[in-house]
Amino acid sequence: MRTKIVAGNWKMNMLQHEAISLISDIKKELKNRGPNAKNTSMIIMPPFTWIPAAVEMTSAEPAISIGAQNCYHEPNGAFTGEVSPEMIQSTGAEYAILGHSERRQYFKESHELLKKKVNAVINAELYPVFCCGEPLEVREENKQETLIKQQLKESLFHLDEQDFSKVIIAYEPVWAIGTGKTASPEQAQSMHQFIRQLIHDNYNDKLAENTTILYGGSCKPDNARELFSKPDVDGGLIGGASLKAKDFIDIFFSF
Ligand code: 13P
Repeated sequence: MRTKIVAGNWKMNMLQHEAISLISDIKKELKNRGPNAKNTSMIIMPPFTWIPAAVEMTSAEPAISIGAQNCYHEPNGAFTGEVSPEMIQSTGAEYAILGHSERRQYFKESHELLKKKVNAVINAELYPVFCCGEPLEVREENKQETLIKQQLKESLFHLDEQDFSKVIIAYEPVWAIGTGKTASPEQAQSMHQFIRQLIHDNYNDKLAENTTILYGGSCKPDNARELFSKPDVDGGLIGGASLKAKDFIDIFFSF
C-alpha cells in the first residue's frame, strides 16, 4: 500500500512569528479533529530559515514531517548562499522538493542539474519530492505526456530500484499553480496513471504500485476530496491553502 500524503509548500512566505503561529495552529486543528483514519502523512515545507523550529515544534507529532523546498547538489564547500541536503538532514527534516516549476522557470534549473540534486538528496538520506508539470502552451498542443516523460527520464529514471523507491512524485501542471484553475479530477487521474505506467515500463509493477504520486495546483478544501478520490492520486502538494491552518487540515482530512 502506498502512503497517502498531504504536503504544504509554503514557498517564500511567513516571517518567523507567523511561521511559529501557523505550526501551532496546525497542531491545534489536528488535535481538534482527532486521528486521521486514512493514515495520511503530513509534510510541512517552510523556508530554510524556519526548518529547525518546525522540526522542534512537531517532534512529538507522529503524523507530521518537515521538508525543504530546494537544496544544492554538493554536501559542503565554497558555494556562498547555498544549503546542502546534508545540512537539511542534520536538522531532522526528512524531505526536499526538487524541480518545482518556479525553480525551473525563475532559476533556470535544467534536467541535468535536477538529476544531480536528486542524487545528492538520496545520498544524504532525504526523500525527494520530485515535481513535474507542463506549461499552458504545452497542454494546448496536447504534448503534456511527452514533456512529463522527458522530465522524469532525464532527472529520475537513472536511479536504481532501491533508490527510486524513496522518490515521491508531484504532478503540478504549471497553468494550475496559483491561478485558481485546478486540473479536473479526470485530467489529474489521466496524468497520474500515465506516470505510473512510465514507472512500470522503466522499473516494475511493484514500484509503480508503491510510488506515491501527488497532485499540485490550486488544490483547496472544496476540490481536494474529488481529486483524492481518483485511484492514482495519492494526495496533494499544496501551495496557497497550506498557509491557512484550517484549510490545510481540511485538505489533510479529504481522503
Ligand atoms: P497553489 O496550491 O498555490 O496553486 O501552489 C501549488 C504548488 O505550487 C505547490 O508546490
